[in-house]
Amino acid sequence: MTHEELFRNIVAHAKEYGFVFPSSDIYDGLGAVYDYGEYGSEMKNNIKRYWWDAMVRLNENIVGIDSAIFMHPKIWQASGHVSAFNDPLIDNKDSKKRYRADVLLEDYIAKEEAKIEKEVAKGRKRFGDSFDEKKFLATNPNVLRARAKADEVHSKMTDALNKNDFAALRQLIIDCDIVCPISGTKNWTDVRQFNLMFRTQIGNASDDSLDNIIYLRPETAQGIFVNYLNVQKSGRMKIPFGVAQIGKAFRNEIVARQFIFRMREFEQMEMEFFCKPGTEMEWFSYWKKTRLAWHQALGMGNDKYRFHDHEKLAHYANAATDIEFEFPFGFKELEGIHSRTDFDLGNHSKFSGKKIQYFDPDTNETYTPYCVETSIGLDRMFLSILCNSYCEETLPDGETRVVLRIPAPLAPVKVAVLPLVKKDELPETAQKIMNELKYDFNCQYEEKDSIGRRYRRQDAIGTPFCITVDNQTPKDDTVTVRDRDTMEQQRVPIPELHDFISEKVTINNLLRKL
Ligand code: GAP
Repeated sequence: MTHEELFRNIVAHAKEYGFVFPSSDIYDGLGAVYDYGEYGSEMKNNIKRYWWDAMVRLNENIVGIDSAIFMHPKIWQASGHVSAFNDPLIDNKDSKKRYRADVLLEDYIAKEEAKIEKEVAKGRKRFGDSFDEKKFLATNPNVLRARAKADEVHSKMTDALNKNDFAALRQLIIDCDIVCPISGTKNWTDVRQFNLMFRTQIGNASDDSLDNIIYLRPETAQGIFVNYLNVQKSGRMKIPFGVAQIGKAFRNEIVARQFIFRMREFEQMEMEFFCKPGTEMEWFSYWKKTRLAWHQALGMGNDKYRFHDHEKLAHYANAATDIEFEFPFGFKELEGIHSRTDFDLGNHSKFSGKKIQYFDPDTNETYTPYCVETSIGLDRMFLSILCNSYCEETLPDGETRVVLRIPAPLAPVKVAVLPLVKKDELPETAQKIMNELKYDFNCQYEEKDSIGRRYRRQDAIGTPFCITVDNQTPKDDTVTVRDRDTMEQQRVPIPELHDFISEKVTINNLLRKL
């Protein structure tokens, strides 16, 4: 199965089993906007809880807030989003379709990379066990040609983007012979900047004055910066301290694809850590390590993550890295960690006219704190888990099953309680077990269909444990507990069920690993 086929299957599975639906589905959807279904929203809540507790509960010097989506328009001038939160866009004059110039070039580079992959596959087939991939990559003329082209285009594109040289970006598109996928022509306009913020109006909508313009926040971080003084005072926070927030963000993304990887309405989990100037690099390394450990504790494979340190930094940052995850479409940014200096607090101080500083009672110093930010997209985190968990298996008896091997503490349903048959008081016993467990775990009761079909349905939504109440239960007060991943079954006395399940599925046990 190719990566594209696998990804298509994952997206279809997410819809069929109530994880993610296209928004406004009965109206044929709305581009890059999605709804979470009955299992998706449970899993999303579990991810949020894992993040919030790791940040706010485990760190005495981090508190959480929940700021409004609408904010004073000056905030987005101070943050630089009005002037600089842009994408370079190009239109095809024949199809009238609009594209992101950098994405057209990235697609071109991806095609060159795919040529390399294809050559390697051919080589492996031809040479079998004696295939030396390293040597092949270093010597095969087709591979070398594709590699040189991909590197050249990447370097020219990065250079043009860094210099905001849009004429060079357009020329590169023409030099690469990139055509519009709709019209098939190279009839391109100039490249222009397009701001990604959504705008609306507050108050009297008939008044078009610019003063009434409100932006839907493109990041949650600014809600933290503008509350720095409030939180520091009300929480009597001493530097270093952090403020965390989970909330919706909105970006008018032109290239909307890869499912919930790039959305127009999405959720972020951000934490701004305020520290003394000069200590920020220490905190930057600390948060790099801490955040990677948070991901790795899920047990999805340490080789699935890597850092991508930024060489070219934004003007306000003095260090930046991404934690990338290996999605089916390659390693891509999952989380960003940025050392943002005093840029945000400093600018809000300038634009608001309020002094935003910290007085250190121990040293009698007053300064504008520096800030290290950790910022992760909740939907992207969701997608990383979904992709990594999805597994199509052929069983020893030749049957197939689709199983979601979701890390148990994040699974939407923890336990399914299943009476083997609808008689001999087995349903009543199953209901009793359900009523006992449901206060601590999200449980599901099912008595319809054969036990095999019920197991498959639970596998497909990633339920770690199925408890079956069978004919032996009335005799010895035990049930079978089936493990989702190994499909092994063991008998467990009913009074021990709670502890047996709890050990594997509680978020607290994940937190203890950090
Ligand atoms: N406050 C910093 C900030 O917003 P960012 O790199 O633009 O930085 C942070 O976004 C994270 O938010 C990304 O690493 C990604 O996980 C998520 N994210 C950004 N844009 C997104 C989009 N259009 N759809 C889904 N997630 C997105």
